[in-house]
Amino acid sequence: MSALPNPLREGLAAERIPEPATMVIFGASGDLTKRKLLPALYSLTRERLLPGRFAVIGYARKQLTDDAFRGEMRAGCEEFARRRPVDAELWDGFARNIFYQEGGYDDPNAFIALRERLEQIEKQLGLPGNRVFYLSIPPSSFATVVRNLGVSGLVPPPSAGPQAHFSRVIIEKPFGTDLATAQKLNRDIHETLTENQIYRIDHYLGKETVQNLLVFRFANGIFEPVWNNRYVDHVQITGAETVGVEGRGGYFEQAGILRDMVQNHLFQVVSLAAMEPPVAFDADGVRDEKLKVLKALHPIPSSEIDAHVVRAQYAAGSIAGRAVPGYREEPGVSPTSQTETYVALKFFIDSWRWMGVPFFLRSAKRMPKRATEIAIHFKEAPRLLFGRRGEGIRPNVLSIRIQPDEGISLNFGSKLPGPVMEVAPVTMEFRYGSSFGVEPPEAYERLILDCLLGDGTLFTRADEVEASWTWISRIHQHWQEKAAAQTAAGTVEPLPSYPAGSWGPEAGDRLIGDGGRQWRRP
Ligand code: NDP
Ligand code: BG6
Repeated sequence: MSALPNPLREGLAAERIPEPATMVIFGASGDLTKRKLLPALYSLTRERLLPGRFAVIGYARKQLTDDAFRGEMRAGCEEFARRRPVDAELWDGFARNIFYQEGGYDDPNAFIALRERLEQIEKQLGLPGNRVFYLSIPPSSFATVVRNLGVSGLVPPPSAGPQAHFSRVIIEKPFGTDLATAQKLNRDIHETLTENQIYRIDHYLGKETVQNLLVFRFANGIFEPVWNNRYVDHVQITGAETVGVEGRGGYFEQAGILRDMVQNHLFQVVSLAAMEPPVAFDADGVRDEKLKVLKALHPIPSSEIDAHVVRAQYAAGSIAGRAVPGYREEPGVSPTSQTETYVALKFFIDSWRWMGVPFFLRSAKRMPKRATEIAIHFKEAPRLLFGRRGEGIRPNVLSIRIQPDEGISLNFGSKLPGPVMEVAPVTMEFRYGSSFGVEPPEAYERLILDCLLGDGTLFTRADEVEASWTWISRIHQHWQEKAAAQTAAGTVEPLPSYPAGSWGPEAGDRLIGDGGRQWRRP
């Protein structure tokens, strides 16, 4: 890469350094801690974005010494950190402030022991008492751990009022499995924490390209005027993965792609793409506008759910020339599973801006290509002017590639070179990699840093999560009722399937094709 300064990057690295703090990670013996959290903290240290005084305490039931935990985390960073190999000198300094505390999740005494250890570490390192608790544990333990944070005095009660030092809690996904469980979890954690202490993670919001949706829309004068039902024909959102369930069959069986990807990640993308300009770029300004979109999702009547929501399961097939098993053959998956690994939806947003514009969203495992993108399909221009020579005219499509090959492209018609007036589609491209010459940081780096800085803009608020579940849970409820009726009648219909490595079932193509449209090939 060129050593010359890149003018496009100037001013982009405005550093914001948080106050000295300690991060306690619950479930520190798990996969997420070593694959994402410690590598993110290590990268932040490398980029000098963490405060000079900063400590990490890993907490879990597994028996480990501080040194053994440091060793496991170093191995995690060697394997998963963004910049490898790990810098030995930097690591030694960073690892000196990593500790491990063994304990259970439902035992208040273990939390009291944690508080004593934390206070001792804070004293030893001269840390002021700012604390972030990261819940990297199965969701069934979220409420218990938050309650014990309060009971043990690790977090002061909400009635104690403003504090000199912050206590914040990061909560992993999934946040509930339906509307009722999400509401209950919100009620439970609000007994110990105020909403502004809660940081619900959706790692899609930490992706640079997702954040760029806001910049693209609101920092440019030319797009916003056409970003509405007068000019937009329809919107397509794709979340395609080549991976299957990757050893998480047990979890996925209970979730399905609608819960795993759509309710959270892709609805966050939809809300950023469809929202009105916020009054300010702060946590509540942005989240208020996203909430309005989620609340304006037009509820699909139960009688129309089957026509608007297509689901299917991958069968055996091949990905990049490699044979892969079907979903029902995956470990932890029932051979008669009815869990969807593909979903395609057609929905509307009841707002002045989007009235009448269909949104088509699809998300699936085992697609031929990994691609997350949002594509705005504009209305077609009249062809009359060009007659037969205008056959090459296509509607303009603006596509925002969230990953991989992050970038934005605009398709438009151009005159074919030559003596006649013929039109052909061409593409104008922006690519992050080549323009900025840097790889985007990992989503967890940005999100952990924002939490330390007390910036909740890229975290989901209680009302957003509930609004999203309100819409999604109606679909699950319809599926459950249908399954119960079929079981009672003894006529259980298997889900439609699609071969692994294909773009999904024909029913998904029909869903969009009924209006003469078709899915974009990302
Ligand atoms: P794990 O299943 O590996 O659990 C993390 C740790 O939690 C375990 O090592 C275990 O430690 C402890 N634990 C507490 N209660 C239980 C329980 N009932 N069953 C099993 N373990 C328990 O989770 P991950 O590390 O993969 O993920 C952590 C959180 O992040 C989860 O909420 C997950 O949904 C979410 N997440 C994970 C992603 C990933 O890529 N891994 C991606 C997106 C979200 P011990 O027994 O030592 O106490
Ligand atoms: C996780 C889902 O939240 O997001 C996984 O549980 C999915 O099933 C993953 O594979 C996708 O994340 P990314 O960043 O790879 O698009």
